[in-house]
Amino acid sequence: MAPGWGALALLALAAGAAGGPRYSADWASLDARPLPAWFDEAKVGVFVHWGVFAVPAWGSEWFWWNWRGEHRAAYERFVAQRYPPGTTYADFAPLFTARDFQPRDWARLFQSAGARYVVLTTKHHEGFTNWGSPVSWNWNSVDTGPHRDLVEELGEALRERNIYYGLYHSLLEWFHPLYLDDKKNGFKTQNFVFQKTMPELYDLVLRYKPDLIWSDGEWEAPDTYWNSTSFLAWLYNDSPVKDTVVVNDRWGQNCSCHHGGFYNCADKYKPGTLPDHKWEMCSSVDRSSWGYRSNMQLAELMDASSIIRELVQTVSFGGNYLLNVGPTKEGVIVPIFQERLLSLGEWLGINGEAIYASKPWRVQVENSTNNVWYTSKGPAVYAIFLNWPRDDMLKLSSPIPSSDTEVTLLGFSGTLKWKKSPDKGLLISLPYIAPSVLPMQLGWTLRLEGVK
Ligand SMILES: *[C@@H]1O[C@H](CO)[C@@H](O)[C@H](O)[C@H]1NC(C)=O
Ligand SMILES: *[C@@H]1O[C@H](CO)[C@@H](O)[C@H](O)[C@H]1NC(C)=O
Ligand SMILES: *[C@@H]1O[C@H](CO)[C@@H](O)[C@H](O)[C@H]1NC(C)=O
Repeated sequence: MAPGWGALALLALAAGAAGGPRYSADWASLDARPLPAWFDEAKVGVFVHWGVFAVPAWGSEWFWWNWRGEHRAAYERFVAQRYPPGTTYADFAPLFTARDFQPRDWARLFQSAGARYVVLTTKHHEGFTNWGSPVSWNWNSVDTGPHRDLVEELGEALRERNIYYGLYHSLLEWFHPLYLDDKKNGFKTQNFVFQKTMPELYDLVLRYKPDLIWSDGEWEAPDTYWNSTSFLAWLYNDSPVKDTVVVNDRWGQNCSCHHGGFYNCADKYKPGTLPDHKWEMCSSVDRSSWGYRSNMQLAELMDASSIIRELVQTVSFGGNYLLNVGPTKEGVIVPIFQERLLSLGEWLGINGEAIYASKPWRVQVENSTNNVWYTSKGPAVYAIFLNWPRDDMLKLSSPIPSSDTEVTLLGFSGTLKWKKSPDKGLLISLPYIAPSVLPMQLGWTLRLEGVK
C-alpha cells in the first residue's frame, strides 16, 4: 500500500464518524447497520394489542376479517345475536371509549413487570389509527371512539419512567379501498402505499420519535410494493431517531427472518439452536388471541411458570422476550393479565441480573431433568434451573470448575458448597431456603464465577 493511502483511509473514517454512515435504499446497505445497543440489553418488553377489535372482544383481533372477510358462521351469528340488524364494523368505533385508560397506571404496571420497552399497536390490520392520523379520516381515535391521542398519551407516561417506546404498525389494511385496488392490480400500482402507509409511517416517526418500529402486515406484497427500503434509508439517515431506532424484519414478502433490524421470523418463533442474528420472541398471555377477548378461559392463558420458561429459553438463545396483553375497550388491563405481568416482574426482581444485558454463553441448555439454561455477563456464568432437584443436589455438566470457582444463588446470601462431579462439571448442594426468604418458586439462578 502506498504511504498516502493510510492517511486517506483515516480521513474517510473520520468523515464517517462525524457524519455517521449513510445507508442506501437496498437491503445490502440497510442490513449492515449495527443494531443500537439498548435493544439487546433491554431483553424484556410488553406488547399491547389495542384497537376497535376490543369492542366485540370475541375470537381475536382478527374479528373483522373472520366476520366480513371469511364470513365465518360463528362470527355472523355473534353479531346477529348481540347487535342491531345492519351493524357494520365501523359501528364499533364509538364504543371504543378508553374511558378508564390511565396511561400512567399502565406505565407503572409495565415497569413493575420488568419491561424495559413497550410496543403499542398504533394501527392493526383493521386500519383504525390510535392517533389522529390526517389520512385516516374518521377512522382514528381522535375523531371517534376515545377522542384521545392514545399513542401520545402512552408514550409520555412511558418516558416519565425511562421505558423505551415501540410502535407497532400494520402495512396492510384488510378492507382499505386503495389497498384492495392495488391488490387487484397485482401490486403493480402503489396508491395505497403513497396515500396511506408511507404518510402514516413518516407521521408516526416525526410526531412520536419512537425507539422501535414493529412492522407487520407485510406478507401479501413484496417490499418493492411497500417502498420499505426507501423509508428505512430515511429512518436510518435523516429521521430524528436515526441513531437509536430499531426495527424488526416484516417489511415485505419473504423479508421476515432475512432482512431488517432484529428478526421476529414467525409469531412465537422458537429457534432450536443459537441464532446468529439478534431476534425477538413475541408471545401472548392469552394463548389464543393478541387482542382482548371477554370469553377467554383461565386454561387458555399462560401461567407464570410458562412465562418464565419462555423468557429464560429466549434469552439463553440471545433473544428478547415481548409478552403481550390486550386491554379492554375501556382501557383496562384485566387483573389476571396484571397478575401475570407482576409475577414476571417479581421473578426478574430476583433473577434479572442473569437476564438484562446478558449474553448467550457457549452452552445454552443442558438437557438434564432440572432443565438448566445458561446466560453470561462478563466473567459470570448464570445457570437458571427451572426444576428444583428432589435431593437438593444440582448437577451442571457444562461448566468446567477451577479451584477459584464460587457459586451463589441469586436472592440468597452466602456461597454454596460444590464439588467436582465424578464425570464432568459440578455437583452443587442447594441450601434449605425458607419461602419467606425467596418466595418465587418459578426458577432459580446460580451465579458461577471462576468457571470456563
Ligand atoms: C416469496 O417466496 C415464495 C415461495 O418461495 C415465492 O413464491 C414468492 O415469489 C416470493 N416473493 C418474493 C416477493 O420474492
Ligand atoms: C419510494 O421509493 C422510491 C425508490 O427508492 C423513491 O424514489 C420514492 O421517493 C419513494 N416514495 C415514497 C413516497 O416513499
Ligand atoms: C435437548 O433437548 C431438546 C428438546 O428435547 C433437543 O431439541 C436438543 O437437541 C437437545 N440437545 C442436546 C444437546 O442434546
